Amino acid sequence: MKLNLVVLPGDGVGPEVTEQAVRVLREVANIHGHSFHFEEHPVGAAAIRRTGTPLPRATLDACLAADAVLLGAIGSPEFDRLPANQKPEAGLLCLRKALGGFANLRPVNSYAALAGASPLRSEIIKGADILFVRELLGGLYFGEPRGLTSLNGSSTAFNTMRYSASEIERVARVAFDAAMKRGRKLTSVDKANVLETSQLWRQTVTQVAVAYPQVELDHLYVDAAAMHIITKPQKFDVILTENLFGDILSDEAAVISGSLGMLASATVGGVVDLFEPVHGSAPDIAGQGIANPLGAIASAAMLLRHTAGLEDEATDIEEGIRAVLDAGYRTPDIARGTGGCLIRTADMGQLVAEAVADVTDRRHAYHAV
Ligand code: IPM
Ligand code: MG
Repeated sequence: MKLNLVVLPGDGVGPEVTEQAVRVLREVANIHGHSFHFEEHPVGAAAIRRTGTPLPRATLDACLAADAVLLGAIGSPEFDRLPANQKPEAGLLCLRKALGGFANLRPVNSYAALAGASPLRSEIIKGADILFVRELLGGLYFGEPRGLTSLNGSSTAFNTMRYSASEIERVARVAFDAAMKRGRKLTSVDKANVLETSQLWRQTVTQVAVAYPQVELDHLYVDAAAMHIITKPQKFDVILTENLFGDILSDEAAVISGSLGMLASATVGGVVDLFEPVHGSAPDIAGQGIANPLGAIASAAMLLRHTAGLEDEATDIEEGIRAVLDAGYRTPDIARGTGGCLIRTADMGQLVAEAVADVTDRRHAYHAV
C-alpha cells in the first residue's frame, strides 16, 4: 500500500506529538512493506510566523493532493489579539472547510490501566466506549453573518447558528452507519427546547432514523447530556451532535479516558480525510518533551483504518497503546493515581512502536497456528 501523507505539526506540542505518530506509522510501514511518504508543511501560528498567513497556499495545495492529512495542534497566545479571521485557528477552520470533511469522529474509551488517572470513580467509567460524531462544517463556527459592530454606542458582537436539513442529514447518516457497526444505539444531542436549528436537527435526525430500524435512537438536550456523559458514560454508544456542542462535550468526555491527551479524531466525508488529536497546542508545556503523544498516535491508527482500509494495522496500533499503558508507562498527564513509570514524549512513541511490532508478530503467529 502506497500512501502520500501530509503532516502539519502546527503549534505548541503539535510538532512533538506528530513526530511520534509518524514514528509509529514508519514502523507499521516497515513491518508490512507499505510505502508511506511524508511531507511536512506549516499551519497555524507556525505558518503566520513564516509566511504571514495561518494557511499558506502551498500547505493547502499539498493537503488537497494528499491521501490524508495528519495534524498536530493549532493555537498560540502570541496571536490571541488578532481578529478571528487572522488567528492561527482560522487556518485550521479554512483547512477543514477546504478538505470538506463534515463528520468528525471522536472515540472516547476508558482504559483499565488509567482508571486511577480519571477524576471519575472507576465503577462509573469502567467499560465506557463512546463515539462522538461531531458535525464539523456548520453551526456557529461558519454561520454568516458574524462580526463586531456598535449598537447604541455599545460594542456588540454576533454570530449565526445556521444548519440546513441536508447538512444535518449527511452527518446523521455517518453516525447511523457507525452505530450499525457498534452497539446500534444513537443519542442525538441538541437544544430543541430553545433553538430553531436544534428543532430542525431533531426532526431531520428522526427522519434519517427511519432507514435504520435496527438502531435505537434517543434525543437529549445538551445540558442534560453534559451531565449524563460523566455520570452514566456506560449508557452511551454513538453521540451525534452539532459543531459547538461536539467541541465542548468531547473535551468534557476526555476525563473518561483519563486525559485529553489520549483522544484521537478523524474527519471524513470530504475530498481528503483529516486526522488530529482532540487536544490543543498546550503552550504551557510545549517544547519540554512531556506532552502525551497517544492522541496523535491513535489518530494515525484512525488514518490507516478510515483512509487506507488497513484495519489490522490500525488495531495493532491501538493494541500497542494499550500494551504500553498496561505495562505502566505514563506521561505526566496520565500518571496521577496509577502508580506508573514516568516517561517522556519520545520514549512513549518508541515504546508504542515496539509494542506494535510485538502485537503484529503475535497476531501473525496466532493466524499461523
Ligand atoms: C478542536 C479544537 C478546535 C475547534 C479549535 C482549535 C479551533 O478545539 O478541534 O476541538 O474548536 O474545533
Ligand atoms: Mg476543542
